[in-house]
Amino acid sequence: MKLPIVAYGDPVLKKVAAEIGPDYPEINALIDDMFETMYHAQGVGLAAPQIGLSIRLFVIDASPFEEDDAQLKDFKKVFINAVITEENGEKWAFNEGCLSIPDIREDVSRSEKLTIKYQDENWTWHEESYHGLAARVIQHEYDHIEGKLLTDRLSPLRKAMLKNRLEAISKGLVKVDYKMKFPAQRKKR
Ligand code: NI
Repeated sequence: MKLPIVAYGDPVLKKVAAEIGPDYPEINALIDDMFETMYHAQGVGLAAPQIGLSIRLFVIDASPFEEDDAQLKDFKKVFINAVITEENGEKWAFNEGCLSIPDIREDVSRSEKLTIKYQDENWTWHEESYHGLAARVIQHEYDHIEGKLLTDRLSPLRKAMLKNRLEAISKGLVKVDYKMKFPAQRKKR
């Protein structure tokens, strides 16, 4: 089932998300729905706050980037209760987009490498290290469960320049090919 994606301006996107345990109801159906929603919107990652759930869960399928980076072949993963334990390497800029902020793409600077601890969909813990684009996609989704958006990583000047476009997005004044929930949209009578 495809779920509506929460747009910029919704408070759920600013909250630090909560850990969950194996008692979380119907987690497998939720994960399936998140992948379906992400693929339909042509994203490479989707975090639970983006569908209105403030829980530490995100899904990634970065295989569309395989041509740029061979480590992304079959890079399809579920991250539950993730904690980035280390970030290092040189900072580098990459042009990022976000399904919650349609039509906006911005260069974002992030560290080259990271180590992350997380549980998979079977609640097994892993600790893995990533670099380059794989690290990049993880960092973007991880920010979502920490209540941060790519706009929080821009310079104050750049963010000021985007202010009107961001306000328009929160009001639903944007053309988008997937279902969204806009926080400041006027109710239709
Ligand atoms: Ni995003």
